[in-house]
Amino acid sequence: MVSKIGSVYRINNRQIEIVHNRDIFSSPKSDGKGLHIVGLMNSYVSIPLFNASTAIGIIFEQIEPSKENEILFSPKSEIVISKIRLIGIYDSIKEDFKKGIDFFPTLNSDVFSIDSKMLSAIYGTVLKKSNVQLQIGTDIYLDNVIINADPNILFGKHCAVFGNTGSGKSCTIASVLQGVYLDRKSRLNNTTKKRLKTIIIDSNEEYAKVFDDAASLTDGNTITPDWVSVQSFEDLELSHKDLNFHELTELLKEDSLNVIPYLRQAICTLKNTDNVDDKTYYEFATLAEQVVKEVPKIKDIKGNVMDDVFTMGYLKHVVRRIKNFSEDDRLTSIFGKEHNSIMNFLSDSKKSVLILSLRVSNDILSLLSYMICKSIFSFKSNVGIDHKENILLVLEEAHRYISSNSTGMINNYYVDKLAREGRKYGVNLLVSTQRPSEVSQTVISQCNSLIVHKISNARDLEFIRNTIEYDDKNQIDLLTSLKQQQALVLGEAFAFSSLVRIADANPLPRSETPTIFTADLDTT
Ligand SMILES: Nc1ncnc2c1ncn2[C@@H]1O[C@H](COP(=O)(O)OP(=O)(O)OP(=O)(O)O)[C@@H](O)[C@H]1O
Ligand SMILES: [Mg+2]
Repeated sequence: MVSKIGSVYRINNRQIEIVHNRDIFSSPKSDGKGLHIVGLMNSYVSIPLFNASTAIGIIFEQIEPSKENEILFSPKSEIVISKIRLIGIYDSIKEDFKKGIDFFPTLNSDVFSIDSKMLSAIYGTVLKKSNVQLQIGTDIYLDNVIINADPNILFGKHCAVFGNTGSGKSCTIASVLQGVYLDRKSRLNNTTKKRLKTIIIDSNEEYAKVFDDAASLTDGNTITPDWVSVQSFEDLELSHKDLNFHELTELLKEDSLNVIPYLRQAICTLKNTDNVDDKTYYEFATLAEQVVKEVPKIKDIKGNVMDDVFTMGYLKHVVRRIKNFSEDDRLTSIFGKEHNSIMNFLSDSKKSVLILSLRVSNDILSLLSYMICKSIFSFKSNVGIDHKENILLVLEEAHRYISSNSTGMINNYYVDKLAREGRKYGVNLLVSTQRPSEVSQTVISQCNSLIVHKISNARDLEFIRNTIEYDDKNQIDLLTSLKQQQALVLGEAFAFSSLVRIADANPLPRSETPTIFTADLDTT
C-alpha cells in the first residue's frame, strides 16, 4: 500500500526536501504482510510528475527544523524534514525505469511511500527479466524485494568487497559464489551456460568447505564436490622455473655487475641452454654451487693456478641468499617444486573452483600472489591457445599482500596488470579488504562494482567517498550504521545503489567470531 508521506518544499539540483508531519512515524501503515512505518531514513519515495512518470528518490537525511532554528517554521512545530536524493524516473505505462532525472517535481507536489511491488517493478526494469541475473540478496527493509546483479558485469569488470572485520565480507563472497556454482540455490537465472573458473586466495583458510553438500552425509562430515579442488600450502606448486632472470635478481636483491654475469651463466648451465629465461626446471639448491663454479681460475705472477678470491668475495651474498631460499620451508612451493598448480587447474576441464588455503605471513603471501597472478596472465595471454572460460581471481584480505606501498620481496606488477588489462583476456578480480585505502590503487580504481559493508575508519570512509560516483557520495554516511550481513551495493552491476541484506551463505565460511566467555547455563 502506497501512502502520502509529505510534500515538496525545497528543490535544488542535487536534492529535494520534503516536509511531513511527525505523526507519520507514530502511525504505521499496513503492507498486507503486517504494519510498518513509512518515511523512515533510507526508505524509497515516489513523486508523481506528469502522465505516468514518477520521480523515485531515497531519504538520506532527516531533521527537525525546530532544533535547527529553521526560520520557516515556528519553534513549537511538530514538523520533520526529509532530504531526498532522486535516483531516476519510473514510467508505469511503459514499465520502464531510467536512472537520472530529466524533470524535477514542482514545489508542493505530494510525496508518497513505495511498496514492495513498485520497488520490485523498478528493479525489474533496470535489469531486464530475460537477462542473466544473480540474486545478491534482498532490500534491507522489504525482504520480499529481491536485489539482483548482472553477473556478466559483476564478474566481468572487477568487483570489490569492503567492510570492517566481522562485517560479513567472507560470507558475502561465499554467498555470491554459492549463488553461481550451487544450482540448488536457484539464484542464477536465465542461463544454462556458465564459463567461469574461480581461484580463491584463501588467506585465512576459511573457504575449503563452502561448496560442500552438508546433507550428503549423516555423521556431520560433508563431501566436497569433484569440481572443487582445495590445495594446501604444502601441496602448492609455483615453480621458480616461471620466474625470469630479472625477477630472480629482484628476489635475490642482487644487481652487482661483479655478480650478475656469473649468476646468469650458472642458470644457463643448469638449464642447459643459452636463454636464461627459458622455462626449464633445475634444482634451485644447486645454483649456489654452480655460481661459484662459473668463476674462472686465475694465475698468480708465478703462473700458479688459483681461485679468484676477489670475485668469490663478491659472490658470497648471492650464494647465501640462494641457500636461504632453498632451505626456507615457507618458500618450498617456489624453490622446491617443479610444477605449477595454477596452470594445472586452468588446463583441467573437470575443475571449476580452486581454493588455495594459504595461511602464511604477508611477505610470503605477496610473493605467492605475484606468482599466481603471473601464471594466470601467462596462461590467458598465450595466443596459441583458445581459452573460452573466464577466470575469477578472489583476493581475500587483499591489503595484506597487494598493499599500496608494497615493501615486500616483489611488487604488485602482475596484479596491477590483471586489474588494468585482465578484462581483455577474460580475467577478473574480486577483491576483499577491511582497509581499502591500503590496497594497490590501480586495483581498487579498476573495480566497477562495490559491495560495501559497515566501515568505521575515517580514512577508509573518505577513501570510498573519493572512489565512487558523485551521485552516490551522500550514501557513504550510511556505512557506519550497517549491521552484519548488510551492505551498500554500488556500481555498474547493480540497478542502482541500494542497501541490501546479503543472501545467507550456506555452508558458512569457517570464520565465526570465537566466544570468549560462555554463560554457565549454556550447555553448547
Ligand atoms: N551472508 C551471510 N550469511 C550468513 N551469515 C553471515 C553473512 N554475513 C555475515 N554473517 C555472519 O557474520 C559473521 C562474520 O562474517 P565474516 O566472517 O564474513 O566477516 P568478515 O568481514 O569476513 O570478517 P574478517 O575481516 O574478520 O574476515 C559470520 O560468521 C556470520 O555469522
Ligand atoms: Mg573474512
